[in-house]
Amino acid sequence: RIIRLAEYKEPDYWIKNTQLVIRIFDGYTEVSSELTMVKNARVDGLPTLVLDGVEQTIKQLHFDDTEISQYQYSDDKLTVQPVAEEFIFKAVTRIDPENNTSLEGLYKSGSMYCTQCEAEGFRKITFYLDRPDVMATFTTRIEADKASFPTLLANGNPIDEGELENGRHFATWQDPFVKPAYLFAAVAGDLVRKDDSFTTCSGREISLRIFAEPRNAHKTDFALDSLKRSMKWDEKRYGREYDLDIFMIVASDFFNMGAMENKGLNIFNSAAVLANQETSSDDRFERIEAIVAHEYFHNWSGNRVTCRDWFQLSLKEGFTVYRDAHFTSDMHDATVKRIKDARFLKTVQFPEDSGPNAHPVKPQEYQEINNFYTVTIYEKGAEVVGMINTLIGEDLFRKGSDLYFERFDGCAATTDDFVACMQEVSGYDFTQFKRWYTQAGTPTVVVSQHYDAEQQQYQLSFSQSQKPTPGQSEKLPMVIPVKMALLNAQGDELAIDCDADFNQQTQVLTLTEAQTTVTFSGVSEQPYASLFRDFSAPVRVEFELSEAELLLLASKDKNAYNRFDAVQKIYLDTLIAMIKNGDNQTPSLVLDVVRASLADNALSPAIKSLMLALPSYQLLVDSLQQKVDADALVAARQAMKQSIANSFKAEWAELTLSLQSEQAYQFNAEQAGRRELQALTLSYWAETGDAAALDFAKALYQQANNQTDRLNGLKAVLDNGSDALVSDLLDDFYQRWHEDTQMVETWLLLQASAKGVTIDTIKALMQHEAFDITNPNKVRSVLAGFMNNFTSYHQKDFSGYDFIAQRIIQLDAINPQVAARFVTALENWKVFSGQRAEAMKQALQSIADSQGRSPDVSEKVEKALAH
Ligand code: ARG
Ligand code: ZN
Repeated sequence: RIIRLAEYKEPDYWIKNTQLVIRIFDGYTEVSSELTMVKNARVDGLPTLVLDGVEQTIKQLHFDDTEISQYQYSDDKLTVQPVAEEFIFKAVTRIDPENNTSLEGLYKSGSMYCTQCEAEGFRKITFYLDRPDVMATFTTRIEADKASFPTLLANGNPIDEGELENGRHFATWQDPFVKPAYLFAAVAGDLVRKDDSFTTCSGREISLRIFAEPRNAHKTDFALDSLKRSMKWDEKRYGREYDLDIFMIVASDFFNMGAMENKGLNIFNSAAVLANQETSSDDRFERIEAIVAHEYFHNWSGNRVTCRDWFQLSLKEGFTVYRDAHFTSDMHDATVKRIKDARFLKTVQFPEDSGPNAHPVKPQEYQEINNFYTVTIYEKGAEVVGMINTLIGEDLFRKGSDLYFERFDGCAATTDDFVACMQEVSGYDFTQFKRWYTQAGTPTVVVSQHYDAEQQQYQLSFSQSQKPTPGQSEKLPMVIPVKMALLNAQGDELAIDCDADFNQQTQVLTLTEAQTTVTFSGVSEQPYASLFRDFSAPVRVEFELSEAELLLLASKDKNAYNRFDAVQKIYLDTLIAMIKNGDNQTPSLVLDVVRASLADNALSPAIKSLMLALPSYQLLVDSLQQKVDADALVAARQAMKQSIANSFKAEWAELTLSLQSEQAYQFNAEQAGRRELQALTLSYWAETGDAAALDFAKALYQQANNQTDRLNGLKAVLDNGSDALVSDLLDDFYQRWHEDTQMVETWLLLQASAKGVTIDTIKALMQHEAFDITNPNKVRSVLAGFMNNFTSYHQKDFSGYDFIAQRIIQLDAINPQVAARFVTALENWKVFSGQRAEAMKQALQSIADSQGRSPDVSEKVEKALAH
């Protein structure tokens, strides 16, 4: 069944207030609801009431005090006929959280009960108008056995609690803010609580609480601190103050994604909230801080102002990712953050845009909304918000955001509403810009240059185009902000005098046409063009540059993002040429740029490590823009890595040793940068086969007092050590940390991503006592680890594909959402050449041919096969 944006209409009834009683018993849970409803005044007559409900066992249904005897419940819809325009709909139903392995609705996570309702999970808890434009105040009472479940939580403020018969107890929570059902949450468990408080800008004291299972109690401090930093930042940067008196976070071991912004009661994947230096790497700290911020920021961008329908998902997700990225830049290093975000977009979102699941930031239709929690909605959506900021400037953007929050507070809004606020405060006409919301695919901008020494004129010609995407063959020109500078041979920026729409203050040139030629006057020498600085638009850029030009940008561009980008372009272009020519000699240009980066003491260690890292296989696949011979690609990249390693063997060794530090561990940008660079230099050093490198790596692993160093040492051993050493260290790791869930997940992931891992090893991991196929984190560690392990997943005999297809079928019966995510690894079969593409397609076909597929998996597989 296809849901279409064009068919959106308001519901026939609204729900004003929702009263729930959730009675948890061993083996079943009973849910009583009382929904205060009123007919939508814009609707004629007295339409039938159609409520969503999945796997509900009906005990009683009432309109006010009258039992409903006439109803129809089929295909997840309950149809009843109201007799008045205002009424209370009451239902008593039973559900089965213990056997709910989809992890949507109410389910059991280890020893605790918790919920996940976004997008359409609330209908697994009770009958409801489960759509985001239906907003109600909620009161939730939870009843459960007191000894097993001393902690009972729901959204809002606690208003009552007490004892019941048979050792049971209850707690009642009230949320005064209207919200859609997807923001509902409830938790029952035996949890420890860590308290803190935050005083808001207006002087209100907010009680902050993190709940975790007792064995994780020592891992909550970092998230609490991150939360306080987020609260402060949102006040300062966006003028957003927290509203309830209490803010809670619960860590859950069974969780489909990172975390969920339920009003006042965020529920997190344990892996996205629990941290300490012993078990969490720098990357993990940064990710946790960003997710805590992301969910917190949703309190305004998502909860106070929510989405009218799921086509507007990017309204909250794109904006909130934009906000959390900005937060991370402010907390740490803005350039590093930008480089990583741009690299991620190119590596993961560009392929989505050129594959079967390409969709606009505001999709026109979907079958299963869970399949649309994508990098396009989230990360490209954030880029689109970022371009709005670039076009109107920081101050007006803030004014627009203030207006948006004020005007739509308590409402369900659309992306058009958001853009209209930006337009209103700035006077900028966003009509054409809005194609970024409706047009799928990545624009390509081809640039060419011409210098006329006599006229002292320099010309840049831009031509933009876009390939068709499924269901969208016609593409129109986009508004593309090009942040730029012209440089002289010393890398200094020239004053710009040109005949185009160039903003002197922001240094942004705006393209709106398919073809644009810009003439720059008074240019006394051939300049170097530094274009798309800071990745000012999510586009592919084709700009043929000479070696001299590339080298200048790679060594002298003052925009650190572009300098990084020029270095990467050298690697990428060279690798592509090697693949096409079948010649795996690394040219001197690459070694020159490595030498220059190594020698440049002005570069921070973090930037240096980013510059010295070769592009990933995934990025290479996308950059090739032709049928990919995966074997040739692996051979070329490995050859280049070898050659860089061997050419600078002494430097890698020396740098690795010099980056060793006695400083006490702290997670901060400076230390993390140092450790990241050391990991990189060590990996090149170990690649040379030098025994001293392996000794160093082993010692790093053994003597580390923090997870980052430990993993850096271990990874170097895994990639280059003898089988005996590898298995020694892996055994040691498991012995020491098998009781720590996050460490076990890491242990599984390390093995699945290790060089040369075989399907037999993956199978063995899935048989290991530490594995649990109902636990998404464990499944992701092993299977996503394998699928991202390019050389193993794409192994020469193609056996990786069928193996994954069979796992998808197996998982689909347990957890469709998680299973559907893995289809992504087969969906771009078309980019590969020959037999490989056929093998991937066959694997997809075997999923399609298997019985009883979920809508989640079916939608993705069908689209991939039709591509
Ligand atoms: N809103 C959550 C977040 O981004 C994610 C919810 C994902 N839901 C899903 N069905 N995949 O913060
Ligand atoms: Zn989000």
